[in-house]
Amino acid sequence: MNALISLNDVCKSFGGIVVADHISIDIHRGEILGLIGPNGAGKTSLFNLISGVYPVDAGTISVAGQSLDGLALHRRARLGVARTWQNMRLFATMSVLENMLVAPRDYPGEKISHIIFRPKQVAAASQLLRERAMVILGRMKLEAIAHANVNDITFGQQKLVGLARALMNDGDCLLLDEPMAGVEGVAYDTMKTIVREEAAAGRAVCVVEHNVSFIKDLCNSAVFMASGKILERGSVDTLLSSKTLADLYFGA
Ligand SMILES: Nc1ncnc2c1ncn2[C@@H]1O[C@H](COP(=O)(O)OP(=O)(O)O)[C@@H](O)[C@H]1O
Ligand SMILES: [Mg+2]
Repeated sequence: MNALISLNDVCKSFGGIVVADHISIDIHRGEILGLIGPNGAGKTSLFNLISGVYPVDAGTISVAGQSLDGLALHRRARLGVARTWQNMRLFATMSVLENMLVAPRDYPGEKISHIIFRPKQVAAASQLLRERAMVILGRMKLEAIAHANVNDITFGQQKLVGLARALMNDGDCLLLDEPMAGVEGVAYDTMKTIVREEAAAGRAVCVVEHNVSFIKDLCNSAVFMASGKILERGSVDTLLSSKTLADLYFGA
């Protein structure tokens, strides 16, 4: 079966810093791939390259066989690349629901001409989006805080809202950048459940995470990166028992 997300020999440098050094990764539907490595390894940069924050220097990235080369962030989002951000990027003055309604893909209200000439269609689409947002919040047991300001909810809830917003995209590729960092208690379990459900629904999921038990519980396989290079890949157990990883990651 062909991979849904395919990175082929991807390279990227910023000045002298190599963040991606001939990276090739395939992620299939239903797979949860763990991406681990020390800070500065290039994990977030890889997500930035896939989602189109900046272009690759060399190599190709494709989704469902279509090359993403030259496509801007929003075009890639339309092709189903959904992601969360390590630092969440929620809009502080907005409610949970409003944060989820910011720029989901294919919303006709994006075009001013549609708002003027097709107001009914825009209103209906807007209603559907709200309903979809509430369903996602329901899965996270967060309906009760839909109208709360994002500043007034817990950190764990904010991280869930970051995921909820990514799910509004309804894309088949889900890139999660440290979803568990700082998350504990109920939010932790919810995060795990939702990520599992998304993979089971046929999405290709890639998770950057330092939380080893999360990776162990959820990932089929993992990739270990340092200094822009893939040093090891394979089953999570194999990876976690690797000496290279222990030396570089845990400083053992
Ligand atoms: N836009 C950028 N310009 C210059 N350097 C960057 C940029 N983005 C990331 N870097 C550098 O690339 C390296 C990898 O960063 P990053 O991908 O954020 O690592 P990780 O997510 O694995 O901690 C770091 O040294 C970082 O400072
Ligand atoms: Mg990072």
